[in-house]
Amino acid sequence: MSHDGHGFSTEQVHGGFRPDADHGARVPAVHMTSGFLFEDFDQARDRFAGTDDGYTYTRLGNPTNADVERRIALLERGAEAILVASGQAAVTVAFLGLLQTGDHVVSAQSIYEGTRGLLLQNLGRLGIEVDFVADARDLDAWAAAVRPNTKAFFAETIPNPKNDVLDITGVAATAHRAGVPLVVDNTLATPYLVRPVEHGADVVVHSASKFLSGHGSGLGGVVVDAGTFDWSAAPERWTHLTTPEHALGGRSYVDVHGPRAWVVYARDVIASRIGPTPSPFNAFLLRQGIETLSLRVERHCANALAVATWLDQQPEVTSVDHAGLASSPYHDLAQRYLPRGAGSVFAFTLAGGEPAARAFIDAVELFSRMTHLGDVRSLVLHPATTTHAGRTPAERAAQGIDDGLVRLSVGIEDVADLLRDLERGFAAVRRAVGSTAGREARGASATDRAATQVA
Ligand SMILES: Cc1ncc(COP(=O)(O)O)c(C=O)c1O
Repeated sequence: MSHDGHGFSTEQVHGGFRPDADHGARVPAVHMTSGFLFEDFDQARDRFAGTDDGYTYTRLGNPTNADVERRIALLERGAEAILVASGQAAVTVAFLGLLQTGDHVVSAQSIYEGTRGLLLQNLGRLGIEVDFVADARDLDAWAAAVRPNTKAFFAETIPNPKNDVLDITGVAATAHRAGVPLVVDNTLATPYLVRPVEHGADVVVHSASKFLSGHGSGLGGVVVDAGTFDWSAAPERWTHLTTPEHALGGRSYVDVHGPRAWVVYARDVIASRIGPTPSPFNAFLLRQGIETLSLRVERHCANALAVATWLDQQPEVTSVDHAGLASSPYHDLAQRYLPRGAGSVFAFTLAGGEPAARAFIDAVELFSRMTHLGDVRSLVLHPATTTHAGRTPAERAAQGIDDGLVRLSVGIEDVADLLRDLERGFAAVRRAVGSTAGREARGASATDRAATQVA
């Protein structure tokens, strides 16, 4: 996707726009149609043959969806994007485009629970194996997990709830040494904060339901192909792309499409067959969101850093997991990859454990109790009893998800109002569990953290 040197905010408004030749509509129309007319017999045949590139049926392509695909591909500096109906659909399409029975994935451990479940339960039942790297900063651990049947590395740029920023270049280089692509979920960073492709990632996926939309009014997902991975370097590893196909006139995807081989396969053979097609109306809503992305994310980041700094000073808090804080073990990575901010999804831990978290969450009024992220509204959730309830206490402890940990997705409201709301929550904590010796607990936990780092 070409770009002509415009800044991000210009591209998010104008990128990929194609004028409406019929009516001159400034905002592209929403094509709410299941299918498209063929002018005659020959056109139908040619569209099926792919020699006429007009539309046929919305599951296979739709102008409204294509318009959003062009814009996101441009913003991510990818070659091409595939819009789907949800983030989970995007991750699924990306994996199914790469993997078959007997294959293996190396993934960061700190990923969205839904993706972890997809890897373990859904892909696991298809005979695809996964190994998780406990500390994604440990590049030797990524390399050590590689097997002859490894076909992909997977990680998130800003995982939740710990805000444990990814070393994209390091993990991409390790993947490439193993001859496999790195798939990165960039949902919580968005291309405004980081473009993984510019740091070596091969495929980028998003839950567009989050920051890209921002309004929280509809789900969406997107797969972006960098177009740079060389599928022909080891043809025996990617036989679905390198074996001759009758439908391609006896040629392979690589023969016909070159560097686009994977994304064409993912669109034509995976997404079109499985059918996670977004409604063109949802694509329109998503595009409306994208047009204000940079403005919102700037405000999200500023608010989140102010909230994290405030939380860090509260006696009831033992730790704040925000990579924008100088005390964070991920601060260096955040400065390197996220100079505009470390996002607005992070966690803090209350010394009073679950009773304190309950009191806090039930008392806040502006923060919405919701399992959603990246909304213009501020959101709050207790991972130990919701998103991570299916994990054993030992697994949660290994990931630093204590019973007192509270996840925030800080919105774009006035930060003074947010701090007042948090203060309301802390007053409830003090009423419920007393003024716990949080500072002492924090001292202990800081010592523990230091000890862990040394170990
Ligand atoms: C990082 C990340 N990836 C993917 C998903 C799945 O997205 P969706 O809910 O749009 O299917 C989520 C959802 O919460 C997420 O946080």
